[in-house]
Amino acid sequence: MYKLTVLSVLLCATWNIALSLSDGLLPNGNFEYGPKPSEMKGTLVKSPNAIPNWTISGYVEYIKSGHKQGDMLLVVPEGAFAVRLGNEASIKQRVKVIKGRFYSITFSAARTCAQEERLNVSISRKTKPTSDWDILPIQTMYSSNGWDSYARGFVADDWDVEILIHNPGVEEDPACGPLIDSVALKLLFPPKRTGGNLLKNGNFEEGPYVLPNTSWGVLIPPHIQDVHSPLPGWIVESLKAVKYLDSDHFTVPEGKRGIELIAGKESAIAQVVYTKPGLVYDLSFLVGDANNYCEGSLVVEAFAGRQSVKVPYESKGKGGSKPASLRFRAVSRRTRVMFYSSFYTMTNDHSGSLCGPVIDDVKLLISRKKPGHA
Ligand SMILES: *[C@@H]1O[C@H](CO)[C@@H](O)[C@H](O)[C@H]1NC(C)=O
Ligand SMILES: *[C@@H]1O[C@H](CO)[C@@H](O)[C@H](O)[C@H]1NC(C)=O
Ligand SMILES: *[C@@H]1O[C@H](CO)[C@@H](O)[C@H](O)[C@H]1NC(C)=O
Repeated sequence: MYKLTVLSVLLCATWNIALSLSDGLLPNGNFEYGPKPSEMKGTLVKSPNAIPNWTISGYVEYIKSGHKQGDMLLVVPEGAFAVRLGNEASIKQRVKVIKGRFYSITFSAARTCAQEERLNVSISRKTKPTSDWDILPIQTMYSSNGWDSYARGFVADDWDVEILIHNPGVEEDPACGPLIDSVALKLLFPPKRTGGNLLKNGNFEEGPYVLPNTSWGVLIPPHIQDVHSPLPGWIVESLKAVKYLDSDHFTVPEGKRGIELIAGKESAIAQVVYTKPGLVYDLSFLVGDANNYCEGSLVVEAFAGRQSVKVPYESKGKGGSKPASLRFRAVSRRTRVMFYSSFYTMTNDHSGSLCGPVIDDVKLLISRKKPGHA
């Protein structure tokens, strides 16, 4: 009897894994399949299940790329269609996942008429009321065409979960609200510390899904809770997002991924490590630029224990990097390693997009130098 149970649990697990999604867009995640003409009134979607694979609620519009709103032309990053979430509108989809594993959601969004838009992205299981939600501000323009991609993480607490994106805003014009496109999911493998590095995921190779057809990276908004960080090992602190870059569209100093510190001192990235008080450690990292017209005298500030260092980097905006380091003596059993950019910088392409220095390949090791040299 016991064996049978174990077997059936195993079978059930394999079956679920086989059915769970692979990394990439959710079914109809880019909204290329739309409602029947009879289920729409102008751009407004009239019935909850009109968009294949999604359930909608409230004022949801189905927008074709090139749609005109006043004198604004709405463009769509992925394929030809997107949805717009008006006042209190939401879209949701139930997806198969592996219970207990860590995932990240990536989606693209663009602000339309309101100045400050917000999205409530929540994950829920079948029965329990939702406790896992996060408000992502869609306010500052980071990319030149108005679209940005955002990511958040979650732990799957069941074999299938519901992903819900909700616009909690209420504007005078019910059609004012963010456009949404390309909703994707990725299973994350939280990296372990290795002998060569006391930090986890120091090269940022493990992180949220980067939509292959987008050239503006992925914003990782600040999160209070560890579990919401889609960048394993790291927490985005402070007020504004950092940008996750891919080497297909940017220059990154090492490997395929890097982090751009896009909002001066308002966007910081940190990790807490176990250290031995009194021991001397060496923090090393690369500072560079992403080859995205981010020109000028950039400065990265790194903090560890009671020490800090300012690393200047003269950027021509064409890509490149240089090594930097910080030696410090641990003063407690936990040391917070943190980075931010000293200044706000804008790209030199007249788009007004925020940009900043890139950090990568962050390593922490016990110093081989004697403590007296710290
Ligand atoms: C998505 O919707 C299509 C069309 O309704 C359907 O054939 C397909 O099975 C759905 N996919 C999933 C994973 O539910
Ligand atoms: C966000 O969504 C969740 C789930 O629908 C809800 O419980 C929560 O109250 C919402 N938060 C805000 C601020 O709207
Ligand atoms: C990227 O765009 C191409 C061409 O439009 C399309 O065939 C492909 O499916 C898109 N990739 C993803 C991940 O949607």
